[in-house]
Parts: sequence; structure tokens; C-alpha cells
Amino acid sequence: MSGKYTFTMIKPDAVRAGNIGNILAMINKAGFRIVAMKYTKLSAEQAGKFYEVHAARPFYGELVEFMSSGALVAAILEKDNAVADFRTLIGATNPADAADGTIRKLYAANVGENAVHGSDSDENAAIEGQFFFSGLERF
Ligand code: RTP
Ligand code: MG
Repeated sequence: MSGKYTFTMIKPDAVRAGNIGNILAMINKAGFRIVAMKYTKLSAEQAGKFYEVHAARPFYGELVEFMSSGALVAAILEKDNAVADFRTLIGATNPADAADGTIRKLYAANVGENAVHGSDSDENAAIEGQFFFSGLERF
């Protein structure tokens, strides 16, 4: 049985477009409970550390620049089978490939600026949640 928690960010493009409320409504409607949440901004150094796993990829520089370009909303979410169910809710990395009704299909512009992040494993969900939140910030 997979874990109960995942980690998400509403990325700077979606914040700039005024879609925080729409995306949170979809997250709530899909049955996720908010465990922790903050509105914040990453420095380029912090964004680089968060996406360190992609450091060798050709899009890394662009990704770091984008993810530090404006405010974002970070959150830990709870639901049975959280990681997989949240990836289903957000849709494919490239919105052109994302299923109808998914967050990326509705709100993402392109593969780089794709509205939301979702953890890809229980292990990474825990690491990413700890990157943004202390134990005192989880309820
Ligand atoms: P995320 O980690 O943000 O939830 O996205 P993901 O798992 O669907 O995709 P991943 O492969 O982990 O890529 C992380 C983020 O890097 C940007 N990206 N740009 N230009 C490109 O070809 C490209 N490919 C990926 C996206 O912002 C992607 O979400
Ligand atoms: Mg990923």
C-alpha cells in the first residue's frame, strides 16, 4: 500500500495567472486534505537545490530560473494513495499530452511552465515536504 502524503507546488506561472484558488478547489474536490501550506518565493539557489535531481538535464537552467521567478504556493497533502492519485489529478508533464480535466490541461501553458508540481514517490514526497516545512508547521 502506498503512502498517505504527497507534496505540491502551485508554480509561479499559475500564481501570476491568478489560478491559486481554482487549483486549490480542484485539489480539495479530489479529496486531498491540506496538512501544511505556505505562500513563498525561492531564490535561484533554493530552486536549484529542490530540483537537484535534474541538474544534468538540458532544461535545468530554465527550470531554476522559472521556479525562482515569482511567488509559489507549497503544500503537503494527505489522501490514501496520495502520490499516484495526485499525479493523475495534475496530468502529464507536457500539457499537450495531459488528459482532459487535469490541472495541467486546464492551467499549464507548456512543458516548462506547467502550473503545478507533484512528488513522484513516497520517498521524494517526504524529502520535498521537509524542504519547505518543519514538524511544527504540519497539522
Ligand atoms: P514536477 O516534478 O514539477 O512535478 O514535474 P514532472 O514530475 O511531471 O516532470 P519532471 O520530469 O520531474 O520535470 C520537472 C520539471 O522540469 C520542467 N521540464 N521542462 N523543457 C523541458 O523539456 C522540460 N521538461 C521538464 C517542468 O517544469 C517539469 O515539471
Ligand atoms: Mg518530477
